[in-house]
Amino acid sequence: FPYYAQMAYDNPREATGKIVCANCHLNAMPTRAEVPQAVTPGQVFDIKVGIPYDLSKQQLLADGSKGGLNVGAVVVLPEGFRLATEEEMTEAQREETAETYITPYSDEKPHILLVGPLAGEEHQEIVFPVVAPDPAEDPSVAFMKYKVFVGANRGRGQLNPDGSLSNNNVFRAPATGRLVSVALIESDISDLPADLASLVPPEYELPGTRVLSFETENGIQNLVLPPGPDLIINLGDSVKEGDPVTNNPNVGGFGQVERDLVLQSPDRVKWLLAFLAAVFIAQVVLVLKKKQVELIQAAEILG
Ligand code: HEM
Repeated sequence: FPYYAQMAYDNPREATGKIVCANCHLNAMPTRAEVPQAVTPGQVFDIKVGIPYDLSKQQLLADGSKGGLNVGAVVVLPEGFRLATEEEMTEAQREETAETYITPYSDEKPHILLVGPLAGEEHQEIVFPVVAPDPAEDPSVAFMKYKVFVGANRGRGQLNPDGSLSNNNVFRAPATGRLVSVALIESDISDLPADLASLVPPEYELPGTRVLSFETENGIQNLVLPPGPDLIINLGDSVKEGDPVTNNPNVGGFGQVERDLVLQSPDRVKWLLAFLAAVFIAQVVLVLKKKQVELIQAAEILG
C-alpha cells in the first residue's frame, strides 16, 4: 500500500532511481504516463497515469480466496510543483478526482503525490491535477527542463512491512529433503499438533494454512504455507533447498517511468515569437528589394 511506503521511507525515490514500491511489489508490469511537454507558471495541468492489466484476472486475497485487483500510484514532481486545490481545478478535473483521494506524500514533500488503493476495474487511468510554480514568487524554482517520475502498481505485494512474506508468493523448500507430511488447519489452530501449531505466526492462523514437514539430513524441517498458493509437490517427493513448492499466485506488478517537463517562461515564448516575426519580415523585405533591383536592371538594359 502507498502508506507502507510513507511509513518506511522519507523519500519514495531511492538514490538509484528506484521507486520504493518495487521493494515489496516484486513483479514488473507496465505503467503509462502522459505529461505535457511544457507548462507556464501557475498553469493547472493534468498528469495521466495508466495502469493496464488483464481485467479478467483475479488475485489471491489475504484469506486465500480470490478477488479483483486494486491499483495505486506515486507521482514525483519537481520541487515547487504541487497538487491543485479544489478551487484551482476545472470542473472536469473535479469530477475526475472526486473518487481518487490524491494526497501529498508528507508535509515536507508536497511535490510527491500518492493515490490508492483504488478498485482496478474503474481506475485504469488516474488523473493528477497539478499546479506549476512561479519563479517570480519562489526563487528556488527556475525556468528549465525537469523530470517527472511515475510509479504505479496493481495487485497485492509480496513482502509485509515487517519483512515477512505475504501469501501472494511462491514458497520454497527450506532445505534439501523429502516431503513427509502436510498438516492442514481446517477450521482453527487446534487442528494442528501442538509442536506444529507453535510454528504458525498469528497472521497465518487461518483455515487453509498448511505446515509441510521435510525429512532432511539435519532432521525434520518445517515450512508454514498460508492459505492460497497451490502445492505443486506430492507427499514423498524429494526437493532441493530453494526449489519452489507452490505455484506463483501473483498476477499483479509494479512499473515506473520518467518523463521530461519544461517550465517555460511566457515572456521567453513572446520574445521568441517576436524574433521569428522580425526574421520573417526581414526576409520578405529582402525579396522585395531584390525584385526592385531586378526591375531597375531590366529598365537599364532596355534603355
Ligand atoms: C498492497 C500499492 C508500497 C506491500 C497494495 C495495494 C496497492 C499497493 C494498490 C493493493 C493491491 C490489491 O489489493 O490488489 C503500493 C504503492 C506503493 C506501495 C503505489 C508505493 C508508493 C509498498 C511497500 C510495501 C508494500 C513499500 C512493503 C513494505 C504491500 C503488501 C500488500 C500491498 C504486502 C498486500 C496487503 C494485503 O492485502 O495483505 N500496495 N504499494 N507496498 N502492498 Fe503495496
